[in-house]
Amino acid sequence: MTPDGSATQEEVFNATITDRQDLTSELTIVRVRPDGGKVPDFEPGQFIKLGLPRSEEECANLPSAARVRSTPRLIRRAYSIASSPRQRAYLEFLMVRVEVGKLTPKLWTLEPGGRIWMDDKVSGRFTLESIPPGKDIVMVATGTGIAPFISMLRTYADAPRWRRAVVINGVRYAADLAYRSELEALARDHSHIVYIPIVSREPTGPAAAWTGLRGRVQQVLDPHAYRSHVGAVLAPRDCHVMLCGNPEMIMSVQRMLEEQGFHVHSPAQPGNIHFERYW
Ligand SMILES: Cc1cc2nc3c(=O)[nH]c(=O)nc-3n(C[C@H](O)[C@H](O)[C@H](O)COP(=O)(O)OP(=O)(O)OC[C@H]3O[C@@H](n4cnc5c(N)ncnc54)[C@H](O)[C@@H]3O)c2cc1C
Ligand SMILES: NC(=O)c1ccc[n+]([C@@H]2O[C@H](COP(=O)([O-])OP(=O)(O)OC[C@H]3O[C@@H](n4cnc5c(N)ncnc54)[C@H](OP(=O)(O)O)[C@@H]3O)[C@@H](O)[C@H]2O)c1
Repeated sequence: MTPDGSATQEEVFNATITDRQDLTSELTIVRVRPDGGKVPDFEPGQFIKLGLPRSEEECANLPSAARVRSTPRLIRRAYSIASSPRQRAYLEFLMVRVEVGKLTPKLWTLEPGGRIWMDDKVSGRFTLESIPPGKDIVMVATGTGIAPFISMLRTYADAPRWRRAVVINGVRYAADLAYRSELEALARDHSHIVYIPIVSREPTGPAAAWTGLRGRVQQVLDPHAYRSHVGAVLAPRDCHVMLCGNPEMIMSVQRMLEEQGFHVHSPAQPGNIHFERYW
């Protein structure tokens, strides 16, 4: 405790970064182990909050209401869990650095062994619970929105709860295709998994390294394009679409799917569009 009764930094921390794998200078996969080693139970698709202390200056600039909340010194943000709940040694997260962000530039300074705050409560309804078994699940992600789908695939690939899982990941550059080799291997080894990466900003031209799809995820969801890439029909009766990441993508794809007869799911009105907005 400090003389004014507030927690010291070490008292705030309750978890350790055990591993960090940088995919680019802006994209990283980190593993976090809570003190005592007890990883909380969760459903694939859920998220947990991570946090780091604010500086003295950041605390002084807080509105007074925020200053009296229980842990005012912490900057806390939600992160989807990418590991499977079967992995009991750590939780894994895929993170992108938001240059103007409050938390991620601080997170980027941490190496393995670095201390962090992790909530003891897992949250979120973006899970497979609301999807009847035996359907086609179309998992649409922009950027780090792929993380909850990785948890689902790692957990259920060998005993699928779906007829087919179609994973569509839209990113800026090929290097941002996190878990690409794992997803390619899953698709190769399981006929019920289809992986469709699409990039928007890779250089073009005869010497271009990227030979795959270019554009945004909407292109793949065009009914004709979907049929040609997946070999199946994007039909509301058979498919549930899960959208994760950029809120503008979610809004745009929702509109597109509603025109094709899909409906947003809610606990009161079951539907076949499910989403998790990252900001
Ligand atoms: C349920 C949920 C799950 C999430 N899971 C992940 C995850 O698995 N991986 C991950 O990297 N992020 C995830 N996020 C986003 C994360 O919570 C933070 O918002 C993000 O890391 C930025 O934090 P920051 O403090 O650095 O930026 P902030 O200070 O919070 O944000 C600054 C501005 O950056 C924009 N912004 C915020 N997040 C993003 C983003 N991810 N990409 C682009 N622009 C953004 C917003 O316009 C925001 O106003 C999730 C968010 C939610 C709500
Ligand atoms: N990824 C990087 O290389 C990089 C580098 C530095 C900083 N950052 C920061 O990281 C944050 C997140 O970047 P991100 O690349 O992970 O996420 P992002 O900006 O959401 O972009 C991911 C993919 O989503 C696409 N997209 C954007 N709006 C869309 C919409 N309305 N509908 C469909 N697709 C849409 C993007 O296409 P478009 O390319 O057409 O927008 C891109 O292909 C940003 O704050 C960014 O500044 C990222």
